[in-house]
Amino acid sequence: MTKESISAKGDLRLTRLSKSYGDFTAVDDLSLVIPEGSFFALLGPSGCGKTTTLRMIAGLEEPTVGSIHLGTTDITTTKPYQRPINTVFQNYALFPHLTIFENIAFGLRRRGIKDVDAAVSKVLDLVELPHLAARAIVNRPALLLLDEPLGALDLKLRRQMQIELKWIQKEVGLTFVHVTHDQEEAMTMADTIAVMNEGQIEQMGSPADLYDNPKTAFVANFLGQSNLIKGTISGNDGDSHIVDLFGQKISLQKNRSHANDQFIYAGIRPEKFRISRLGTPTSGNILTGGHIEDVSYIGVSTQYQVEMPWGQELMVFEQNDDGVAPFSKGEEVNISWEPIFTFGLRGDEDATAGSEVNPEELDEE
Ligand SMILES: Nc1ncnc2c1ncn2[C@@H]1O[C@H](COP(=O)(O)OP(=O)(O)OP(=O)(O)O)[C@@H](O)[C@H]1O
Ligand SMILES: [Mg+2]
Repeated sequence: MTKESISAKGDLRLTRLSKSYGDFTAVDDLSLVIPEGSFFALLGPSGCGKTTTLRMIAGLEEPTVGSIHLGTTDITTTKPYQRPINTVFQNYALFPHLTIFENIAFGLRRRGIKDVDAAVSKVLDLVELPHLAARAIVNRPALLLLDEPLGALDLKLRRQMQIELKWIQKEVGLTFVHVTHDQEEAMTMADTIAVMNEGQIEQMGSPADLYDNPKTAFVANFLGQSNLIKGTISGNDGDSHIVDLFGQKISLQKNRSHANDQFIYAGIRPEKFRISRLGTPTSGNILTGGHIEDVSYIGVSTQYQVEMPWGQELMVFEQNDDGVAPFSKGEEVNISWEPIFTFGLRGDEDATAGSEVNPEELDEE
């Protein structure tokens, strides 16, 4: 049998998929649907189970529990070479002694396809250079799995390749499942991102959904940066909660709160904050009594650390577009933001989950 013997098309469905190695569970009861034709990213830190998930989809690893469907076809036990799936592996290496053309033709020749030259030229025309993907899509699999294919590239080339890969995916309309631990890469490329942590999916959605309304501290910190301020829900006002943050009241839309009782973390992205000098009118949610602790000018924006009366330092990113003189260290300021930007997390969460701050590095300072 060849790949053609399974002509399965349609959405990829993982149902209650687990993979254990002895006592260790690498993938833990994972269920998700990847719509046909989408660019899907599995995003998570090292060791969270991304490659294991991909290997199960490819058929290189047998699930301990669970099933995998492509459309209506159950492919859980289908041999890898019978699945209409190609994989670009982690730290992928092309055959260095072959030309780009021969690298692309390799897969076709191996399968005994006759008109290799024409097929390769067509694909080369389409994609110009990102030959690794080209080789993988030349025999039109239903699904292309990419495991950190850009990991070895320097940043500039990486950014270029991200745009190219995205473009190829849109042109050929194949389903791409892209594994990465780079949140910016996932956000640039994917229609849908599943954020993975310790073998499970924390949250899934469009890049904007995940960024604007994270449901857990891990997602709030792993995807971009967040300020998480501890508080309690002290009342209600129509569709909003009134949240008490160290004696100051702010408003949070109920449908953006993921807390399950009155204990809550109010989350605000650093670029949503505005800083104002005392006596300057402000609107929306306001926190008073801040002091500028640190100022970093980085061209397009200035990043501030503002120390609040309860001892927490808040991160504020301000665009340098309004001609207002930057704030200086030690200045007393207020912080304000549009209530709609507040999200609420459970108060019993670890507020540092998913943040890249390494406690050991802090100790060294
Ligand atoms: N064959 C194996 N035997 C035992 N443990 C394994 C095996 N394969 C993977 N693991 C473990 O499962 C966990 C998940 O591994 P996996 O390779 O899926 O992570 P990943 O998310 O791809 O990480 P990275 O970003 O570093 O590639 C890791 O803790 C890993 O050590
Ligand atoms: Mg991996």
